[in-house]
Amino acid sequence: MKTKITEMFGIEHPVIQGGMHYVGFAEMAAAVSNAGGLGIITGLTQKTPEDLAKEIEKCKGMTDKPFGVNLTFLPGFAAPDYPGYIKAIIDGGVKIVETAGRSPEAYLPALKEAGIKVIHKCTSVRHSLKAERIGCDAVSVDGFECGGHPGEDDIPNMILLPRAAEELKIPFVASGGMGNAQQLVAALALGADGINMGTRFIATKEAPVHQNVKQALIDASELDTRLVMRPLRNTERVLTNAAVEKMLEVEKAKGDATTIEDVAEFVGGVYPQIMQEGTMEAGAWSCGMVAGLIHDIPTCEELVGGIVREAEEIIKGRMQQFAS
Ligand SMILES: Cc1cc2nc3c(=O)[nH]c(=O)nc-3n(C[C@H](O)[C@H](O)[C@H](O)COP(=O)(O)O)c2cc1C
Repeated sequence: MKTKITEMFGIEHPVIQGGMHYVGFAEMAAAVSNAGGLGIITGLTQKTPEDLAKEIEKCKGMTDKPFGVNLTFLPGFAAPDYPGYIKAIIDGGVKIVETAGRSPEAYLPALKEAGIKVIHKCTSVRHSLKAERIGCDAVSVDGFECGGHPGEDDIPNMILLPRAAEELKIPFVASGGMGNAQQLVAALALGADGINMGTRFIATKEAPVHQNVKQALIDASELDTRLVMRPLRNTERVLTNAAVEKMLEVEKAKGDATTIEDVAEFVGGVYPQIMQEGTMEAGAWSCGMVAGLIHDIPTCEELVGGIVREAEEIIKGRMQQFAS
C-alpha cells in the first residue's frame, strides 16, 4: 500500500510503531521495520546518549530497513541531555525522528540539517498546525483513545482526524486506538496516510517485554483503562490495577492540590518492574482502549502484513460495493 507516509519514510506499509518506554528497544523497532512498517527506538529508555548510540548500532545489525528514534519532551522530570541524544541520533545515521510532548522547535534546525525527517505526535489540531508551521514533515495525530498521554482536550479520533484533515497540509497518521485492518481503512477514509500503533505492538511475539504484560492485554477489555494524573494536567491513560485504583483515590482526595510527589510512588521508575519482571501491580503503565481489540500475540510480520492485506481486501470488497 502506497501513501504519502510510505513515500516519505521509504517503507512498504503505512504502519508506524510509536515510541514506548521500556518496550521500544532495538528488538521491537527492528521487528516492525523488517515487517515493512516503521519501527521506533525509544530514546529516553536509554539512560545516556552513549547507550542510545549503542542501541541504534544494535538495531542496524538487526535490520537493513529504515527505523526511527523517539524523543519525548515531557514536563515535570529532570531535563535529560537532549543535545546529547540528538547527537547520538545524527551520528548514528538515523533518518527519522518521532518527537512528542513539548514542541521540538529548538532541535529542528540540527535535525533538518542532518537530513532527518521529523514526525511530531500531537493530541490537538492547534499543536498539529504549530508542528507544521515550525517545519515538521508529518504529524502523528493522537486521539483520546490512545495509550499514554492523550493531552487535556479529550477529542476522540472520529472527530480529531477529520478536523486535522481540514486544516493540515503536511501528511499525518492516525494514532490512538489503532489495532486492525478496519481501523486502517477508516483512518485512510478520515484523511490520514497511515496509522501509528503503540499498545497493539506490545502484544507481539517480538516485543521485548514480560509475558505477563502481553497476557494482561489479552485479558483486558476496552473498559479497563483509567486516566491518571488529570489534576496535574499531565493525563496518562493506563491499564487499571490495584496500584492505579489507589492512585486515583489519592488524586480524588487531594483534588486540584495533588502534586507529583503525592503520586510518585505509583509512576516513578515502575516501568522496568512491569515490563521486564512482569510485576503487574507495581504501578501505572500506559495502555490504550485498543486493549479490547487485542486477542492474540502474532509476530510483527503477521500483524503488520495481515492488517495491510486485510485492509486492501476491505477497500476492494466491502467498500467498493457502496460506490454505485
Ligand atoms: C507502554 C507505553 C509506553 C509509551 N511510552 C511513550 C514514550 O515514551 N514516548 C512517547 O512519545 N509515546 C509513548 N507512548 C505512546 C505511543 O507512542 C503511542 O502514541 C500510543 O500508544 C498510541 O495509542 P495506542 O496505544 O492506542 O496505539 C507509549 C505507549 C505505551 C502503550
